[in-house]
Amino acid sequence: MTFYAINGSPRKRGNTAVLLDKALQGVKDVIPDADTKIIHVYDYSYTGCVSCYACKRKGGKYYGRCAKKDAISSLLPELSQADGLIIGSPVYFHSLTGQLQAFLERLLYPYLAYGKEYYSIAPKHMPVAFVYTMNATEEKAQQMNYQIKLSPMEEYAGVVFSPPAVLYCYDTCQFDDYKRYMAQRFSEEKKLQRRQEHFPIDCENARGMGRAMAQKITGQNPTAEGSPGRI
Ligand SMILES: Cc1cc2nc3c(=O)[nH]c(=O)nc-3n(C[C@H](O)[C@H](O)[C@H](O)COP(=O)(O)O)c2cc1C
Repeated sequence: MTFYAINGSPRKRGNTAVLLDKALQGVKDVIPDADTKIIHVYDYSYTGCVSCYACKRKGGKYYGRCAKKDAISSLLPELSQADGLIIGSPVYFHSLTGQLQAFLERLLYPYLAYGKEYYSIAPKHMPVAFVYTMNATEEKAQQMNYQIKLSPMEEYAGVVFSPPAVLYCYDTCQFDDYKRYMAQRFSEEKKLQRRQEHFPIDCENARGMGRAMAQKITGQNPTAEGSPGRI
């Protein structure tokens, strides 16, 4: 069985990457011989959907497939055969990173059929999860409606593959050493305290999310601890 984490951050050792790694460990807790892979989208050179509509053309060669040729052309069909997808993004300007947004346009749009309602022509309906990391505190994120602002891709992924679990990680550390950066709006002391006290809990939640995904696949009942759902 193959499970992919898709890292929408340019940082390979940043907050998002760490949580994705934990989520894949959670998969392995349940399925030790699972094949787990992390895709760093910033390693690839590609664009978002270019509206060629080859994926929608009746009887066309590319119906239900992305016709655009670039560095992710062979990766997209591989991902659509996965047994589970865990998608991670830092919040950039109240949204996913642009690079991840472009990646998901290419992954999801060919499988989104324009019926009277949208329906899916994806080859597989694997479990999906989204993980977000952000500077905002939980309170600020609520005030700024981040759950709603971040939800469109979750909804499309839900139609195409399956309704996702969602995990939010708030108030992350952005810099290793705050003193070296112009960042008066943040208290270094509070950020480091949060990192020490709360980030390990975020990591455990991510691991639980991975476990819950694997349990879904193996038909086990997710435990309360293994199933963070939308938190
Ligand atoms: C270009 C840019 C835009 C950002 N915009 C937001 C934002 O709108 N809201 C927020 O809470 N954090 C924002 N952040 C902070 C990141 O979301 C946060 O530091 C995140 O944990 C970084 O993830 P990473 O360590 O995986 O790269 C922004 C960071 C960058 C670099």
